[in-house]
Amino acid sequence: MPARDKTHVKAKAAAKADERKGPVVNRFGLPNLGIGLGLRTVHYSHILEHFPPVEWFEIISENYMQTAGKPLLFLDRIAERYPMVMHGVSLSIGSTDPLNYEYLRELKALRDRTSALWVSDHLCWTGVSGKNTHDLLPMPYTEEALLHVASRIRAVQDYLEAPLILENPSTYVEFSSSTMSEWEFISALAKEADCGLLLDVNNVYVSAHNHQFDPHEYLAAIPYDRVVQFHVAGHTRKGDHIIDTHIGPIIEPVWELLGDAYRRTQGAAVLLEWDAEIPAFEVVHNEALLARDFIDISIENEPSVEVA
Ligand SMILES: [Fe+2]
Repeated sequence: MPARDKTHVKAKAAAKADERKGPVVNRFGLPNLGIGLGLRTVHYSHILEHFPPVEWFEIISENYMQTAGKPLLFLDRIAERYPMVMHGVSLSIGSTDPLNYEYLRELKALRDRTSALWVSDHLCWTGVSGKNTHDLLPMPYTEEALLHVASRIRAVQDYLEAPLILENPSTYVEFSSSTMSEWEFISALAKEADCGLLLDVNNVYVSAHNHQFDPHEYLAAIPYDRVVQFHVAGHTRKGDHIIDTHIGPIIEPVWELLGDAYRRTQGAAVLLEWDAEIPAFEVVHNEALLARDFIDISIENEPSVEVA
């Protein structure tokens, strides 16, 4: 059997991804991919056996970095058939440690391997002084922090030669030094750094509950021409606070936030994250497809603008 021509396979995958691109819907010219799922190892065999009609997959970048063998073989086969985007948890864009260019080099190589359409990570820091907490820690929302993170985002974008797509975190504590709300910070940061946004409406819901703010005020402030992607997920109530566990189906108020945010865009990719007690593939897929209903309801019920 002849050795597999990787260049040919990659070009074919990129062409297929191009075919499936929807209309340009944001200032970065990135496509609306439709409704996708987070790629999880428990679903590999189902996907490779049935190639289900999922519009796209999001991978956790670090699951395929510093690794070889089977995970990458599975990934290559899935990336040949589906549009893919990358979602990271280790960039630590908010840290005061220097940017890790070895990490960025690997990230870029993985993007090239999968023809991922964009790369996202979180507005957070994961450690400092070389120590990694493996947690997505909240930022102080100050002018100083904003300028610091913006310059790091610009450096990452220069290296990746593409916009970085940043996700709003779910948070459990706040800095008393913050001088602005999270939505003010994220909106100003996105403009200052000229980056994209991944709006996780479940994170908005979780943080709104934990810090007692109005999630609709948050959504109203977002610059939607920068929103490239949405996340929806389940969460867990623990006494008087909520933990972002990515478990179970999505509650109606979170779907309603998706609908509310989505109708302010020109269309954007929607992704379901389900990471604990993951059920069969079809269950996860059917849950994700509910997004369409809530988006349609929201668009139908869009409040009319009054002309003075
Ligand atoms: Fe998320």
